[in-house]
Amino acid sequence: MTHKHDVIIIGSGLAGLRAALEVGKVADVAVLTKLYPSRSHSGAAQGGIAATLKNVDSDDCVEFHIFDTVKGSDYLGDQDAIENMCNEAPEVVYETEHMGVPYSRTEDGKIHQRKFGGHSLNHGKVAVRRSCYAADYTGHVLLHTFYEQCIKNQVRFYNEFQAMSLLVKDNVCQGFVAWDIINGGLHVFHAKAVMFATGGYGRAFKITSNAHSSTGDGLSLCTRVGLPIEDMEFVQFHPTGLYKQGILVSEGARGEGAYLLNGQNERFMERYAPTLMELAPRDMIARAIQTELLEGRGCGPNKDHVYLDIRHLGEAKITAVIPQIKGLCLDFAAIDPIKEPIPIQPTAHYSMGGIPVTVDGRVIYDAKNSIVEGLYAAGECACVSVHGANRLGTNSLLDAAANGRRTGKAICADVGKLKHSELPDNPMKAAQDEMNRVLGGTGKEKVIRIRHDLRDSMEENCGVFRTSEKLTKQKQILKDLHERFRHIKIDDKAKIFNSDLMEAIELEHMLEFCEVIVEGALNRNESRGGHSRTDFPKRDDDNWLKHTMAWRGEDGKITFDYKPVIIKNYQPMERKY
Ligand code: FUM
Repeated sequence: MTHKHDVIIIGSGLAGLRAALEVGKVADVAVLTKLYPSRSHSGAAQGGIAATLKNVDSDDCVEFHIFDTVKGSDYLGDQDAIENMCNEAPEVVYETEHMGVPYSRTEDGKIHQRKFGGHSLNHGKVAVRRSCYAADYTGHVLLHTFYEQCIKNQVRFYNEFQAMSLLVKDNVCQGFVAWDIINGGLHVFHAKAVMFATGGYGRAFKITSNAHSSTGDGLSLCTRVGLPIEDMEFVQFHPTGLYKQGILVSEGARGEGAYLLNGQNERFMERYAPTLMELAPRDMIARAIQTELLEGRGCGPNKDHVYLDIRHLGEAKITAVIPQIKGLCLDFAAIDPIKEPIPIQPTAHYSMGGIPVTVDGRVIYDAKNSIVEGLYAAGECACVSVHGANRLGTNSLLDAAANGRRTGKAICADVGKLKHSELPDNPMKAAQDEMNRVLGGTGKEKVIRIRHDLRDSMEENCGVFRTSEKLTKQKQILKDLHERFRHIKIDDKAKIFNSDLMEAIELEHMLEFCEVIVEGALNRNESRGGHSRTDFPKRDDDNWLKHTMAWRGEDGKITFDYKPVIIKNYQPMERKY
């Protein structure tokens, strides 16, 4: 079956839905998602969305937000894109308020704001309340509000469809092919414009805050048609994942005053970030925690976690402003955080890299910013790059909403000039071949085992701290896992709601882009933001102040090129907090 729309957006998180609302004003738009839309991973974001509303700290200003984001990115963020995002933030947030997002309120009825890591007044002097929040359900309420608005505006949804292959010829996008998970069968989606909003890939790591669906599908769909992906070596480890589970314990807790303790009951952040302490950026706090663990100052019999203490905030405040944290601790760790400290460890949380795009979300295919006609991306799957080497907390909901909107506007501007380009003779071929290959496998390997070996080894060899030795080992492990993948057999042969098949498809995506992460990390002989090489502990601006562009060939060979970082007002400086 072939479906024809002006514009089709793949992914129903914040970026996809926000773009759909924009595009729906001028064109026929559909959203396709492998989930039910309100289960998209944006809903897991807890602590807030950044904007200089000045509702609580009247001294805040957009310039401070821009500076904090540039410095937080370890100077790899593109400053033109960062300026756009921070300038647009207040309008973007007020729009969400007018759509009906139930923000927490100040006593005089304004949107409440809290502190968050790396957000400061006067260029790092003191933490500022810039994060607009709805208790610790901010992503959840934004997602539900955007979905509600899409329904109200009659956006067409294709729920529970897995995108399988992208149709691109001569750098013009024709559409894509997707598998109908519920009813079975492949469908062709023919569009003038396709937008990726497929989210991140934390599931490639053992300890992650990401939903099971965060398997980076959009990235592999792009590399399979010869498109590059950018800055994949930069993976963010959120400092406070619930011990062993990885579930997010929001930085909002630290924004409200929670602190970290090691096994010796020390507030160890004093040693690493004496000014901002627990409100330093995430890359620094994750490294601080990992250092405490490696140097034997962890908690518990295995000294493999530290504590986040929120007890002093008191039951009333905890219940009012971070109720989800309380629930998650009770449900997943049998800990009552009102009475006990919360055991935590760093958790794979966010991918700074992704599909390279212009500041307006148009996908590019080389380091000269040449555009793929009719192809767009926004949100976590895209690399604009507003986060550079390290994202600040609450800038991801902002990125998704602001760049979702911006990309939607770019599509509106382009769609009148775009046409439905002719489809290839057999558009389903690549997707059909993949289905047949996976369903027809007769080997002895189990998808779940390869998946676990992938996650465990990525965590071990490509985690918070990296070395050439570990990354080289991981490169070989990935080759071996690929080889094992060629010998899988899945037990369920049905074409309808086949989760075995789904997991195999997702696993192959992860195996492919993990090679790009690891080889990119191996090449980058410096430490910057989320990429920390103990064998190259310093940032090296002379050689590495540049974005990585990577292409994965059909034979698995990865080639690299590099793109300059856009610097405007802020030259790279030493990063102290
Ligand atoms: O900690 C948090 O609430 C996460 C927010 C974010 O990743 O922006």
